[in-house]
Formats: sequence, C-alpha cells, structure tokens
Amino acid sequence: MNFLDEIKNLKEQIKSKDKFDINFNFDNIVISGMGGSGIVGNIFQEYYTSIPVISIGDYGIPGFVNEKTLFIAVSYSGNTEETLSNVEDAKKKGAHVRAITSGGKLATIVEKSIIIPSGIQPRSALGYMLMPLFNTFAPIDDAIVSQTYGILDDMDKNHSDIKSEAFKIYENSSIPIIYGSKPFKSVAYRWKTQFNENAKTFAFYSYFPELNHNDTMPLKSAYRRDEYLFYAFESDNARINQRIGITEEITGEQFTVVKSPSQDYFSKLFYLIHYADYLTYELALVRNVDPTDVSTIEELKKKLA
Ligand code: F6R
Repeated sequence: MNFLDEIKNLKEQIKSKDKFDINFNFDNIVISGMGGSGIVGNIFQEYYTSIPVISIGDYGIPGFVNEKTLFIAVSYSGNTEETLSNVEDAKKKGAHVRAITSGGKLATIVEKSIIIPSGIQPRSALGYMLMPLFNTFAPIDDAIVSQTYGILDDMDKNHSDIKSEAFKIYENSSIPIIYGSKPFKSVAYRWKTQFNENAKTFAFYSYFPELNHNDTMPLKSAYRRDEYLFYAFESDNARINQRIGITEEITGEQFTVVKSPSQDYFSKLFYLIHYADYLTYELALVRNVDPTDVSTIEELKKKLA
C-alpha cells in the first residue's frame, strides 16, 4: 500500500469490530504507547471519563497499578522498548495486561492481544488501534460510523482546499501552531506529530483555555511573529469559541478555525484527524520529502537496541 492508500484506508479501519473480552472487575485503565501508537491512549483518555484512565508515553507505570488495573499496551510494531518495559512492570504488579499490536515481541509476551493488520506505518493504523477501545468500553452507533465513513470518503475524493493550505504553509515556510480544546486536545497533538513525521517540519500545540494564560502574550508581541501559522478547532463549548474570537481580537492574530461538517464526537474526531493527514501529506509532497520516511527514528531505535 502506498502512503496515500494508507491515508485512504482510515475509513475502512473505523469499521473494525475488534474488542476485548473482559470478565473481571477493574478500577482503572492504564494505556501505554509511544508516538503513532501512543496517541491512541491520549485520545481515549480524553473521551472516556467514567473511571480513571491514564495514558503513558514514557518509561515507568503509575504507582497505583495493581490487580485492579486493566493495563493496555498499544504498539503497532510490538517492539517498542518503553512499552515492552511497562508491560513487564505491570505484570509484576499483578495488573490484567492486554495489548493491541500487529505482532512483534508484544504479541508473544501478552497472551490476550488484539492482532491488527501489519504492513503500514503505525501512524496510519490509528483506526485499527483505537476502535478496540471504543468497541469495548464506549461502542459507537453503526449509523454514526457510516456517517463518519462518508465524511472521510468525501475528503479522500476532494481535499483541494487542504492542498492549497499546505501550499500556503510551504510558500511562507510557516511553523504551524495548533490550538485544540477538550475533547480534542489530543488531536492537536496528533496534528503536531503528523507535521513532524509526514512533512518533516516542526509544529507546536497547546489548547484553550490554558493558552489564554500564557501563549496569549507572544500571540501579540512575539519576535518573528509572521513565521507562525495558527490553527484552532471550533468547539461545542460556547465559551471556548468566544475565547478564540476574543484572543484574535485582542492580539491581532488570525487563526485558521477548522470546523467539522458534523456535530457528534466520533465524526468530528476523525474529520479533524483526517484533515491533518492530508495537510501534512500535501506539505510533504510540495516540500519534496518522502512522507513515509521515518529513517532517523529507526536509526535511533537501532542505536539504542
Ligand atoms: C508512527 C511512527 C512512530 C511509532 C513509534 C512507536 O508512524 O512511526 O511514531 O509509532 O516509534 O512505535 P510503535 O507504534 O511500533 O510502537
């Protein structure tokens, strides 16, 4: 599959029915993953608030992990050092350990893994890795999944506006700064990582309302202010939208406000994710860099091995 086909495959991935079979009680969920796999835990943690959910993208597990913890390791390759070491720690603490992976060592050390299709970039497998969490803990209506499929398909067929935007970023050598807000702060971070890995550019992120307590100052008076390009996600929360407007008004900075064509959480989530898939893919093409190339990340992993 070429990279464009991997991007287009997202709409198929959201139809996944994979789920965990859970027949024990637990008090909290800890999700461990890095990079393109780690974002899965961040997205889920922000959405699912019925019980404590902690997403870790680092070495080391929280001190509270015990036999009442459901510990889920997410690693596309199944060979990510930080995640594997956290699995060992969670086992020692007696946690119920599960995994989502395409194989690797993880599949061999965690008995009850959900095995997803291999052969694509981890960051292109977001749907495969995220759906088991929704399906197990917060199932999405089939009608919503179909609607989301349609929205993603429309973008696959025509995203010329996003392509023009990528060209604008390229022409001005802009550094994108992405401002999310709940429950899509994690998506702002996903945008940042897609700029990094696909387009090989720096990008930064923050979120409303927090940025009104810090970023708001340089928005008005930073040096090299013209080098940045600001994105904000339209919110369901009227106060957040007001904050976007007032921040623009008092700083004189314009944000590109990204609005989903639909209202429900799930389709908004994937609309925003897919938007950045295309923005960063098109930026890679116009910059003449290979969007699939992650050789420097791989070189680093090899040197650490
Ligand atoms: C994304 C990517 C990286 C990996 C990360 C962890 O496409 O290549 O961000 O996701 O290095 O590796 P995995 O996902 O295999 O655990």
